[in-house]
Amino acid sequence: MKTRITELFGIEHPILQGGMHHVGLAELASAVSNAGGLGIITGLTQRTPELLAREIARCRAMTDKPFGVNLTFLPSVNPPDYPGYVKAIIEGGVKVVETAGNNPQKWLPALKDAGIKVIHKCTSVRHALKAESIGCDAISVDGFECGGHPGEDDIPNFILLPRAAEELTIPFVASGGMADGRSLVAALALGAEGMNMGTRFIATQEAPVHENVKRAIVAASELDTRLVMRPLRNTERVLTNAAVERLLQKERALGASITFEDILPEVAGVYPRIMQQGDMEAGAWSCGMVAGLIQDVPTVQQLIDRIMGEAHALITERLAGLAGQRSATLQNQERAFS
Ligand SMILES: Cc1cc2nc3c(=O)[nH]c(=O)nc-3n(C[C@H](O)[C@H](O)[C@H](O)COP(=O)(O)O)c2cc1C
Repeated sequence: MKTRITELFGIEHPILQGGMHHVGLAELASAVSNAGGLGIITGLTQRTPELLAREIARCRAMTDKPFGVNLTFLPSVNPPDYPGYVKAIIEGGVKVVETAGNNPQKWLPALKDAGIKVIHKCTSVRHALKAESIGCDAISVDGFECGGHPGEDDIPNFILLPRAAEELTIPFVASGGMADGRSLVAALALGAEGMNMGTRFIATQEAPVHENVKRAIVAASELDTRLVMRPLRNTERVLTNAAVERLLQKERALGASITFEDILPEVAGVYPRIMQQGDMEAGAWSCGMVAGLIQDVPTVQQLIDRIMGEAHALITERLAGLAGQRSATLQNQERAFS
């Protein structure tokens, strides 16, 4: 399938794997790229630029297809070594960067000079327009359904995607709640040029996380995510567990006076314990409502092939059939009035 996104990134299928902390390692990114999508290594999961350079080299050894790196710009007192990470990306010959969080403007000249395409992840049309105006090549439009940080506007993709289509000139992918061929066809119908998936890719054979994480996603329903850190205006959609319910209890008890320090035990440094050790009660971890649509743990190749097969069948059989029915109705009407 050719879209503006497949053309922009030089990939076969319009399917991206979003950056995911302690999940987006070379194993998953290369598997997605080898299956014809765009795999993405999560920059900040590598504690130093040197480690990121090593991860990029590892990924390159596992695929000769294009892959990207996610750079998440977080508000922070002690910011990570962003110049070092950008240098590692450029020197590693990476051709796509997924930016997220704060405005990436400061880093664009260096990235663009190196011929890197930048896709910025946004949860609102106004931020998407800003990203377009500063020179980003594409947008990943992250609806309220998404795992991770959905922003504070709470606009689901059935509204956000057509709104983005009305306003944007550059191509965009639909992100949040995407799982299968139905998601892809719906995303295309709403104006996107492809889709980005997070949670769905965790429940695959190649995702380098503990089996307990995959099992938790398969077991979860669409009712099992919660929004945490809303009082801190840093809302995150996570899978519920004892730590999350404790965190929410603190939010209710402390109200507007809550600070980040109050919830440190539930959020700080918990990802390695969850993703690598499989300690599912260790703290809050991002997960999308789409968990309700995930019932298996296929290989990435099986998943992407299945999505493309379903999308093709939907377009050429069900939707084409509906269009055929309509024209038959019109023909009957024309006959009746002639
Ligand atoms: C476990 C997990 C960790 C994530 N970590 C990051 C991250 O570090 N940076 C980022 O930009 N997005 C992150 N995301 C968001 C994903 O890239 C993607 O936008 C999101 O998962 C899409 O929604 P979905 O889960 O419904 O597919 C994370 C998502 C999950 C599920």
